[in-house]
Amino acid sequence: MRARLAVFASGAGTHAQALIEACRDGRLAAEIVLVLSDRPEAPALDRARAAGVPSLCVARRAGESRSAYDRRLLRAVLDARADFVVLAGFMRLLGRSFVQALPWRVLNIHPSLLPAFPGLDAPARALAHGVRYTGCTVHFVDEGMDSGPIIHQAVVPVRPDDTVETLTARIKAAEYPALLQALQWAVAGRLRVEGRRVVILDELEGMGT
Ligand code: GAR
Repeated sequence: MRARLAVFASGAGTHAQALIEACRDGRLAAEIVLVLSDRPEAPALDRARAAGVPSLCVARRAGESRSAYDRRLLRAVLDARADFVVLAGFMRLLGRSFVQALPWRVLNIHPSLLPAFPGLDAPARALAHGVRYTGCTVHFVDEGMDSGPIIHQAVVPVRPDDTVETLTARIKAAEYPALLQALQWAVAGRLRVEGRRVVILDELEGMGT
């Protein structure tokens, strides 16, 4: 049976698009059952509509508590009967009740080599810090900010003439295959969390040992 994925996106939604296409052409044994955004004007929602994928805006209401908002997000995931939630540019921190209701079922893609540069503007901060290499991280979401167990990473060099824009674009290009790989493992049931570490089952066999 194909896994059911909900994709949360606040902005452009190029990851949501890439995942819709990966499911459609068989690279990912899954189905996108929901694209959800916290912003009604997010292009991610337009992309989902254009692709015929269910889409939903769940914006935080004025004065709404975070836990009440989290409950509405969780309700959307449960209604869609999603097996996994993929945070792909979802610019909100999810609270304990949401994360605990979906243990190791929520994945996030972040544009740095965590634990360096969690939070906002990671490529700009990597550039300002002068690191020679940065990259992207796919991790399980826990209650902290970009702090959950790491599933996969890709390294990207920082060039001397990089701007925030060029570096962000190079990181983003590395994100698509990294997220796809992590999700292929996840939907195949190959990921197990042991403490802070994620074990990829059968990885040793795949390396010819
Ligand atoms: C991605 O680059 C992702 O790493 C980043 O938002 C972008 C979403 O792209 N996420 C974060 O910065 C989370 N802290 P998209 O809207 O084109 O899919």
